[in-house]
Amino acid sequence: METANADQIAYWNDQAGLTWAELQPSLDAQIAPHGLRALDALALRPGERVLDIGCGCGDTTLEIASRVAPEGEVLGLDISAPMLEVALERAAMAGVTTAGFRQADAQTVRFDAPFDAAFSRFGVMFFADPIGAFTNIRTALRPGGRLGFVCWRKPSENPWMLVPLEAASRFVPPLPPMDPTEPGPFAFADAARVRSILLAAGFADIVTTPFDTAIGGFPLQQALELALRVGPLGKLLREAPDQRESVIGAVREALAAHETRQGVLLASATWIVTASLPAAAQRQMGSGH
Ligand SMILES: C[S@@+](CC[C@H](N)C(=O)[O-])C[C@H]1O[C@@H](n2cnc3c(N)ncnc32)[C@H](O)[C@@H]1O
Repeated sequence: METANADQIAYWNDQAGLTWAELQPSLDAQIAPHGLRALDALALRPGERVLDIGCGCGDTTLEIASRVAPEGEVLGLDISAPMLEVALERAAMAGVTTAGFRQADAQTVRFDAPFDAAFSRFGVMFFADPIGAFTNIRTALRPGGRLGFVCWRKPSENPWMLVPLEAASRFVPPLPPMDPTEPGPFAFADAARVRSILLAAGFADIVTTPFDTAIGGFPLQQALELALRVGPLGKLLREAPDQRESVIGAVREALAAHETRQGVLLASATWIVTASLPAAAQRQMGSGH
């Protein structure tokens, strides 16, 4: 595979990818509302050919397959072998033959046939060269093609991530200051930056709409397991596993404060982003084929 995003390729093929593969049902439940909202914004139609960028364990790929059925098809693209393995198994179990999967870097991969639309649920914030990556994604779209994705807003607006991290911070060394433009879950928190990346990559009609929703709804023990294993706290504890015991009590207590009759619920804040190809690019692409 290409090595433009070597760090992320290593990250998602090692413990992060294995953890996501293992916790797939809980993670899908946690972020399903965001993906569904972004898919609604993309307004897929039966018969369309769709690219699912950073498809992970394939949850949205299968949802897309059902939205474009019966004639349409979807390609799930990801750099993570362990997550794609889960995706392939799920598609086979569900008997879905219109969803394919490919292990490749969205920043550099080349496609044979154009897509009507490209989609992503939290899979586009990890590019070393975001303008290059979105330029590549643009060239994968047919004239008039659409883009739709969901990404996190800033950490302070996302208590689902901040609450456990702050509870743990009393016991673990502080995280190094985050560069908000570094590849990672919060790299697209600034809507102005997202717009400028997409504009530079040749997209038009860019719309960023805030979407806020409480997420989780798990029993306390399951919420604790998720908080300790994914996101920035999961990363920190994977790198310093001896810290796990010391933070468990504080994280449990912090999550318990958000327990409701529907389980532990914490606020989340995202951007639903849509864009499409401008008329000039459409003419240019059209004349080249
Ligand atoms: C936060 S996970 C989201 C997975 C999935 N979209 C979901 O919602 O369950 C981010 C995904 O992006 C993938 N990813 C990161 N960089 C990528 C790249 N350059 N090309 C393709 N996939 C990438 C990771 O392997 C991972 O599966």
